[in-house]
Amino acid sequence: MSLLSLDISAAGYGPVTILRDIQFEIPEGGRLVILGANGAGKTTTLRTISGMCRMAGSVRFDGRELAGLAPHRVAASGIAHVPQGRGTFGDLTVRENLLAGGTTRSRRDAMADADRWLERFPRLAERSSRPASGLSGGEQQLLAIARAFMSNPRLVLLDEPSLGLAPKITTELFSTLDGLSRERGTALLVVEQNAQLALGIAEEALVIESGEITLRGTASDLRDNDDVRRAYLGV
Ligand SMILES: Nc1ncnc2c1ncn2[C@@H]1O[C@H](COP(=O)(O)OP(=O)(O)OP(=O)(O)O)[C@@H](O)[C@H]1O
Ligand SMILES: [Mg+2]
Repeated sequence: MSLLSLDISAAGYGPVTILRDIQFEIPEGGRLVILGANGAGKTTTLRTISGMCRMAGSVRFDGRELAGLAPHRVAASGIAHVPQGRGTFGDLTVRENLLAGGTTRSRRDAMADADRWLERFPRLAERSSRPASGLSGGEQQLLAIARAFMSNPRLVLLDEPSLGLAPKITTELFSTLDGLSRERGTALLVVEQNAQLALGIAEEALVIESGEITLRGTASDLRDNDDVRRAYLGV
């Protein structure tokens, strides 16, 4: 059985419909990447899953229907969302940002887990008592990812994690993400314009154009596809 089974007949903002007929599934621990140009509807797809858009259709997750639930209830059901632009709290310290990801757990558990994340990422530990606004872009993205994992999610939605990061930092970040997903069995849904690395960690991929799915297949199929190579791999 799929962990996530998405069937959006329409979704959008107020009276504006952005997405039509978006259907896909993600198995337990599976990794799917969504490619698409600016304005294609990638962010809207993630926001629809998280309960932030008007939608007609179904979001089945772990055997439950999430459509119509408020964003905090979607999060509590086991879906963590790392928004485009990271969404770390600049005024809060690095540790406080981590704790903000653990609000569904006991304070004691969350504190212990925050310590484990800081041990794992020394660059964050060095700055644990300082405002997150002082971190580099790559460190903020790492913090946003660690914060998402603080809720022990079954699925993490990542909206363009590579945006604004240098290639070397992006490579490290994807390798970290890959490791976390594998070791914890966490499913990933990654939206990216930078396709090379995202396809590298995913099993399945799809392309969205103007709010509709225009291409889908295994990640390696899409990597070999001429249109994808031209549009998203700069070949
Ligand atoms: N709050 C909103 N109200 C109305 N329309 C919106 C809103 N947010 C986004 N849109 C529109 O929805 C369409 C899809 O936007 P979306 O942000 O999902 O695209 P995207 O694929 O994530 O693009 P990008 O790569 O630039 O992040 C765009 O035409 C955009 O202008
Ligand atoms: Mg977007």
